[in-house]
Amino acid sequence: MEADHRCLLNERNQITDCDLSEQIKAVTKESHVQAENTKVMLAFQRGQLTLQQYKLLLCSLYKIYEALEEELDKNSSHDGVAPIYFPQELARLESIKKDLEHFYGANWKEQLTVPAATLRYAQRLREIGRKHPEYLVAHAYTRYLGDLSGGQVLGRIAQKSLGLKNGEGLSFFSFPAVSSPNLFKQLYRSRMNSITLTELQREGVLQEAVRAFNFNIQVFEELQNLLSTSEETELRQRHKTHSPKMSDAGTDKSLELPSSLVSSSQFLRILLGLAVVLTVGMGVYAF
Ligand code: HEM
Repeated sequence: MEADHRCLLNERNQITDCDLSEQIKAVTKESHVQAENTKVMLAFQRGQLTLQQYKLLLCSLYKIYEALEEELDKNSSHDGVAPIYFPQELARLESIKKDLEHFYGANWKEQLTVPAATLRYAQRLREIGRKHPEYLVAHAYTRYLGDLSGGQVLGRIAQKSLGLKNGEGLSFFSFPAVSSPNLFKQLYRSRMNSITLTELQREGVLQEAVRAFNFNIQVFEELQNLLSTSEETELRQRHKTHSPKMSDAGTDKSLELPSSLVSSSQFLRILLGLAVVLTVGMGVYAF
């Protein structure tokens, strides 16, 4: 909110005259609302996230943080990265691995399922790591400050709604080296503001931040599609496995002749036989 008052719009409608941390917050404000309102995030906030959704989300987060943290590590001494390089406090990759191992077991790597949007996001991270390391701040901000803000609430909701005990499967949300998320966010913002950028670079960083949010939104949307498809398939399969049973049962029943019917037809046949014998007998007697 503060950001809106302090940042000024220039004649080209660009946000100017304020710190990078304020500019970035202002330009991504709308995207944040959009991200919060994706189906997956809404389900998360309402405590309606399923374990399957959570596990799939973790798979994507693994690929995203793998790329982000590898690129931050590679560029840790770059002027645009060094001030915001906090692997000790922020790195998420090991925590995500722990969570994945908890849910999928030792061979979790072979079970990773990620939508194409996640791969595109990771690809972009690697590309900017190579071509524009100064843009990494936009991605690090989007993920880490998000994890330290709404992410903390989401962690508590996940624990309750998924019934996870002793923090198992929830390492992603836990930042043991950050004693106060709010104080740490302040420090992070001041480090962001200390990065020297040309006007062009700053513009690039701001655009990249909007892009970072969009990547996240696309990941959430594709995860939702993946889930809807797998739910539909499951329903169809359930229907299929149920239907043959019902028709089998039906077929069996329709093929089965009731024993009472068998015995009465036999009885009729005996009666008919007797009648024939009697008639013939009577005929013979009459003649
Ligand atoms: C259920 C979804 C979400 C909720 C409830 C939520 C909630 C919040 C809240 C309460 C804040 C603190 C705002 C402030 O200090 O002014 C925040 C900040 C932030 N969130 Fe989210 N968020 C959600 C999803 C996301 C997602 C998906 C992302 C990005 C991938 C994200 C990125 C951020 C960032 C970067 C900040 C820091 C803003 C700043 O101080 O500059 N959030 N969020």
